[in-house]
Amino acid sequence: MTENINIKIVDNVKDMQALSNRIKKEGRIISFVPTMGALHEGHLSLMRVAKEKGDFLVVSIFVNPTQFGPNEDFNKYTRDLKGDIEKVSEIGVDVVFFPDVNEIYPEGFETYVEVQELQKPLCGQFRPGHFKGVTTVVLKLFNIVKPDIAVFGEKDYQQLLIIKKMVRDLHLEIEIIGMPIIREEDGLALSSRNAYLSHEDRARALALSQSLREIEKRFKEGNKNTNDLVQYGIEILNKSSITDIDYLEIRNGHTLESKKEAQPGDLVAIAARIGNTRLIDNTKL
Ligand code: PAF
Repeated sequence: MTENINIKIVDNVKDMQALSNRIKKEGRIISFVPTMGALHEGHLSLMRVAKEKGDFLVVSIFVNPTQFGPNEDFNKYTRDLKGDIEKVSEIGVDVVFFPDVNEIYPEGFETYVEVQELQKPLCGQFRPGHFKGVTTVVLKLFNIVKPDIAVFGEKDYQQLLIIKKMVRDLHLEIEIIGMPIIREEDGLALSSRNAYLSHEDRARALALSQSLREIEKRFKEGNKNTNDLVQYGIEILNKSSITDIDYLEIRNGHTLESKKEAQPGDLVAIAARIGNTRLIDNTKL
């Protein structure tokens, strides 16, 4: 255990569990924000809510290898503990849990957890094994940090639904709070992966949020046909030469079932590659 700008950093499972047991014995409420680091204002907004809701705030920083595919950006993913600690220092985080990969996945590890159906569409189709890695690490982190409350961003909307479902299905006594996407002034959704974008690609990436706005606008004007709405969105993407689109879909905002006719509350979700960077964004109608 080390102290850094008055923030305690715990790097092993046993110490974190012992600390959480002590906090719980004192009757304090543990709130938790799991992250992979490369923190930005979106993460900080989750931490502010978590701080308000609980008495003891734990943030984990762990780039989880099991949620990255073989050709994805696990090695390239930004790792900057010092910068991250500086960013969280204004929030009043009590502990940063920063384990090593071997600590979370010791030799011989072979147990995974999966949410069968919700993980299939959208990102699940294009990132096989991704959500299995997410649910496995999140359940592990829950068992280590023992939070009463955990806060996640709606930017990873499918992830949020899957985690809520896992919590319900496995009877975990944890309240899951989802918080809205934080955007730059020009509409770009904050993401750790925005750091990979060149100046030109960042400008093109604006088409993601613009296409969502266009779909919302057409829906409000009365067009409910999901094929039409999606087509309007794709036109906006194509105008910015974004053609490597994993999906742009309208689905039920709770079950993720696909829809022919859009309704208020439906999810519009998008994943596309700008240059080599895969970005996601979404909105609710
Ligand atoms: O959203 C993320 O940053 C990650 O998927 C999470 C929840 C920290 C699990 O590794």
